[in-house]
Amino acid sequence: MSDDAIPSAKLPLSARSPGKCIVFGEHAVVHGGPELLLALDLYTQVGVAVGPETRLNHDVDGRRSNPYFDRALDRFWRDRPAIDVSVVSRVPRSAGLGSSAAFVAALGAALASASGGMSRPELAQAAFDIERGAQGVGSPGDTAATIAGGCVTVNSDMGTILWQVEHAEESWTVRRVPDPNWVWVVGYSGIPRNTATAVLAVGRRLAQPDGPSLLARFAEVAESGIRAFVNEDPESVGAGMIRNQELLREVGVSHPRLEALLAAAEPVALGAKLTGAGAGGSVLVLPRPGREMEVVRRLARAGAAAYAVRSGSPGADLVSATRIPSG
Ligand code: PMV
Repeated sequence: MSDDAIPSAKLPLSARSPGKCIVFGEHAVVHGGPELLLALDLYTQVGVAVGPETRLNHDVDGRRSNPYFDRALDRFWRDRPAIDVSVVSRVPRSAGLGSSAAFVAALGAALASASGGMSRPELAQAAFDIERGAQGVGSPGDTAATIAGGCVTVNSDMGTILWQVEHAEESWTVRRVPDPNWVWVVGYSGIPRNTATAVLAVGRRLAQPDGPSLLARFAEVAESGIRAFVNEDPESVGAGMIRNQELLREVGVSHPRLEALLAAAEPVALGAKLTGAGAGGSVLVLPRPGREMEVVRRLARAGAAAYAVRSGSPGADLVSATRIPSG
């Protein structure tokens, strides 16, 4: 599942990287809690070619208007020729589905490839540095999931170690867990939200006297949920998602529109919760077996853009390129 390195290749080339959803542990992961993420079969694809001037989707001001693009060029493409970058994406933006991480990972993979190739742990560290620099806050969960593909945990003992990501005094361990190959449904509420604002608000909430006990509850729900996921026990995963949603509500990141979507899915779901930073964005539903399309219909009737998705998609990689053989 994309544990191999990003190979060396020549421009022009294309790379892609998947969106993600968080099954357990968003927000708590920023404070050291365990998290489970799935790479989705929704991709962002980036094309890179040498051009007369550096442009992002034909925009010569791309560096100024997109801090992720600017930082990625700083990191991967200093003192190199001007490049024309085009992006197409099936990952909705500001929806909690990892669009910025997928863009940074796809662009990073393309530029790293054109610079001689890169190991996946190095790409994961670089992509996190870019995201964290542009956002100012956050964990490496999103960038790890999009680069690794499949199913990954952060800050959990479950799974086999893929790599470690560092930032200042902090360190996160990313592990691979097996993909049970279930169908999930994500529903985007259409309400954009800002990850940094939500992360800072939750940080203030967790600084209150009951913060440590709340964090301990987040950790307990995520650990037992991850164990149920690894044991391929969908009923227990669904029950864990419902408990995780109660905690997210308690720290103030749910939203009336998200609650309406969760209520719409509830009769045909094993479990459902918001996914990502919340305060808008998307919900994630684990449908009852055979009820997947009914979940999609119910979410759509309740006003969401709903997608049936599979987990386990491959991570960041080249799409088409002239690979340079090694050795
Ligand atoms: O940007 P989003 O909506 O995918 O949220 C990421 C999850 C958080 O835990 C809220 C932040 C983080 O960086 O882990």
